[in-house]
Amino acid sequence: MDIDTALEQLPKVELHCHVEGTMRPQTVVELARKHGVTLPTQDVTRLYSYSNLDTFLEVFWLVQALLRDRDDWARLAHESVVDGAAHGLAYRETFFTPARHLDMGQDLGDIVAGLADGLAAGEAETGARVLLVADIDRAYGPAAGLRMVERLVELRTAGAPGTERVLGVGLDSTELGVDPTTFAEAFAVAGRAGLRRTSHQGEETPPTHIAAGVDVLGCERIDHGLSILDDPELTKRLAQERVPLTVCPNSNIRIANRVQRLEDHPFRRMREAGLLATLNTDDPALTDLDLGYEYRSVRAAYGYTWEDMVEIALDGVEATWLDEDDRRALSARIRNAAASLAPTTF
Ligand code: ADE
Ligand code: ZN
Repeated sequence: MDIDTALEQLPKVELHCHVEGTMRPQTVVELARKHGVTLPTQDVTRLYSYSNLDTFLEVFWLVQALLRDRDDWARLAHESVVDGAAHGLAYRETFFTPARHLDMGQDLGDIVAGLADGLAAGEAETGARVLLVADIDRAYGPAAGLRMVERLVELRTAGAPGTERVLGVGLDSTELGVDPTTFAEAFAVAGRAGLRRTSHQGEETPPTHIAAGVDVLGCERIDHGLSILDDPELTKRLAQERVPLTVCPNSNIRIANRVQRLEDHPFRRMREAGLLATLNTDDPALTDLDLGYEYRSVRAAYGYTWEDMVEIALDGVEATWLDEDDRRALSARIRNAAASLAPTTF
């Protein structure tokens, strides 16, 4: 077996993937028709080229706004698992960002229940497992973020359907000009309720935002963390503390336009600095990416060996919010598969 085929088949973990960003182009068109929304074009992939995070978010928001009822969320979640598993996805902690839906009058309970229905169907079909992280949308501000977290805690306490899949909260959307510390109260409420915490930082902002994510918001993981190497002290500290960074190298080219080529991306240097940097797709359907391609392209760009790539996959397990037993089982599954897939040609 050649290394690219082996990387495609290797069971992989993904910790930075927005479920809305997995929506198939055909599903975009069908949901628009269902809800009487006129799209700028029927070939929606023509919209999928971006010059920075904010131009991407305009398209992301257009896609998000098509999710109007519980069935839509279930369909999206189901298809996301099937499409991920087709490229070796074994386990994912996936984001959903319900701010605009709550603003339009949807109930968080319906959204979570719909997602959970779809994930369960996808899991039964593929054997992959997918849990949820509820993201606060920075663009809607701290008060809306706090309301979302409070409602989530209320639903979990009541044992509402699907809430057992929600492991934690995150923070995404526009970065420039937004002070992450203004979300401290929402994150504190989440932490007190036993929810895990992560946040997008440093995709377009300096390392001070990454430090704020860890020190002020109490995040155990940082999503992207692209600018971290600009602060050697912080780099050393997060490496020592094994704070995971869920890095999305191809997204940083296609969405944020931070680098032109993978060869210029700091992923390799991040890992050489001892950081627990994992590989993820971010918004695969809106960027024409998949997790197999992410692994293959990164290997080719940095000259990584098969063993290097298996280590990256195992680091993905360490960065999860699974309990020890589940982590051990998932690591064993990856190691066993790696042993039988081990490529013979390079
Ligand atoms: N929402 C979806 N993808 C995102 C990204 N890469 N950064 C911030 N918010 C997002
Ligand atoms: Zn993201």
